[in-house]
This record gives sequence, structure tokens and C-alpha cells, in this order.
Amino acid sequence: LFWNNVTDYQPGWPGVHDRNERSRWYCEQLEQASILFFAHNPIYLPQEHRDILISLRQDNSRIHKNISYRPKLDKLRGYSSHQPGETARLRAIMQQYSESVTNFLSEFLAPYAQHWSLDYASYRPLEEEGRDLPLHKRNDLLHIDAFPSRPTKGGRILRVFTNIHPTKPRVWLTTDRFDVLAKELAFAAGLQKIADHAASADGRWARVTKSILSRIGVPERSAYDRFMLRFHDYLKENSEFQNGCRKIPLEFTPDSTWIVFTDAVPHAVLSGQCALEHTYIVPTDALLAPDKAPIRVLESLSGRSLSA
Ligand code: SIN
Ligand code: FE
Repeated sequence: LFWNNVTDYQPGWPGVHDRNERSRWYCEQLEQASILFFAHNPIYLPQEHRDILISLRQDNSRIHKNISYRPKLDKLRGYSSHQPGETARLRAIMQQYSESVTNFLSEFLAPYAQHWSLDYASYRPLEEEGRDLPLHKRNDLLHIDAFPSRPTKGGRILRVFTNIHPTKPRVWLTTDRFDVLAKELAFAAGLQKIADHAASADGRWARVTKSILSRIGVPERSAYDRFMLRFHDYLKENSEFQNGCRKIPLEFTPDSTWIVFTDAVPHAVLSGQCALEHTYIVPTDALLAPDKAPIRVLESLSGRSLSA
């Protein structure tokens, strides 16, 4: 139920008559919190680019955490080289990768293509096992994704990963999906307080202030965004949950690609090295089953609108 092996897709959908229907079906699977898995990467990625990316794994001193790429600004972050040519080359590789993933997804998940917004792409060249990161940044603890700097107001976080390591799998854990975790833990994490505040007079005034601050670049978070950030931290802080919950290990083999809504599929990365990743924000209007979206789940639990 939580995993689909995609075997009928090739670029251009050759031999598939009902490609629109297939595309819709895959979007529905994703919205039901499934992971779509391709045993072989369907994204155009020249071998030369792959080789250059893989060679960076020896290069810890020049890599900060992950290397990120912002497609709308054509900006690379997290990598510094003394040779300016190297940085420019890496930026060009990430630019091409971003374009290739977007081309692939536009065809494979056609119903979303007119609606999503391109978020960041990243390259993760460091071994995940044993990384020494502060608690809230640790990705080896189960969590759902929420980005402090990019509130979505209910929009979904869609991510595409490719394991380009020649031999090592990337190993994840997952557990029950967002709707189940939310029923069990959202109130303990403070859902009602955040929801009630948003609906109060104070909350409305706070919104006026925030909308002014947003003009100088302060991210404007909705009640939904505030809760999702809280829930992300709450899950990582909660050792009873981390130790006691049901755990399902997942192995992403070398050269595989997987697509997932990481705001509804809890995940932890235990080991692996050299993954490419691209994030898209899919607005709730574009979803085929918006009632399953985390914002709707939380609104129905709290009895409040959370979009403002
Ligand atoms: C994440 O936790 O969002 C990243 C997972 C990964 O890098 O495999
Ligand atoms: Fe995550």
C-alpha cells in the first residue's frame, strides 16, 4: 500500500495508451502517501555529470552541509572552491539536473505540472550514517518535512530523489503516515493552541504585522506552517515516539529514483551517500484528493481554518 514499483514509465510513455490516466493514478498514489519507486533512474543525467558529482564525496572540506541549488535564481549554495571554474561547473550541472527532473515530472505527473512551484534542488555527497548534527537538523530521526524559510500555506512538499552512488543503497525508515500520527500526537504537539490563536483577535493582528514584515523578506507563516514546523521538531524531540513507533525500513538501491510527499510520509535516513534531490511545492488546488492533504487533516482535527 505504501510503495509502488513503477515499471510502465519510459520517457515519452512509449506503448502506454492511457498515459493521462496513468499519470493521474500515480498522483493519487502519492496523495495517499505512497512512495513511487523506479529501480532505474528515469531522469536524464549525463555520465560525465554523475562522475563529477561522485568525485565530490572525497571533498568534505569544501562542502558545508548539502549543496543546494535555487533554480529560480540560478544560485548554488553550500560549496566553495578556490577555483571559480569548479563552482561554475557545479552550478551548471545542478541547473541541467533541475531542468531534467522538471521535464521528467511534467510528463510523469502531468496533472501537477501547470501548478507546482520549483523549490530547491540539492546534492547530498556526505555519508549520512554518523553525521553529527544538532537535534532538529538530524535526518536520522523520523520526521515530516517543513521548511522554516519557505512556508507553503498548505501547499504540499513533493520531492524526487536519485541515488547516484555506484554501490551503496540509501537506507530510510518510515512509519505510520501523517494522518495516523496527527490523530495520535498533533494535540500533544500543540495543534489546538496554534489553531485557536490564529482565529483569535491577537492572531488577526499578528497577521497584519506579518504581512507588512513579509515585504522586507520575513517569511509569512500560516497557522498550518507554524504547526508543521512545531510537529517536525516535536517528533524529533520525542524519544518515546522515536524508540517505540513501528518502523519500516526502506532500501533505495544504486541508480534508483523515488518520489514522495515528504510532508505526509515520515522518514529518517540511516545511511547512504551521493543523492540528488529536487523539491516542488504543489498547491492544494492542484491536488486530486485535497481532503487527504495534511492541512485538511489538521483542520478537521482542530475545527479551525489553518490557511491564514
Ligand atoms: C530528508 O530527511 O528530508 C532527507 C532524506 C535524505 O536525504 O535521504
Ligand atoms: Fe526530511
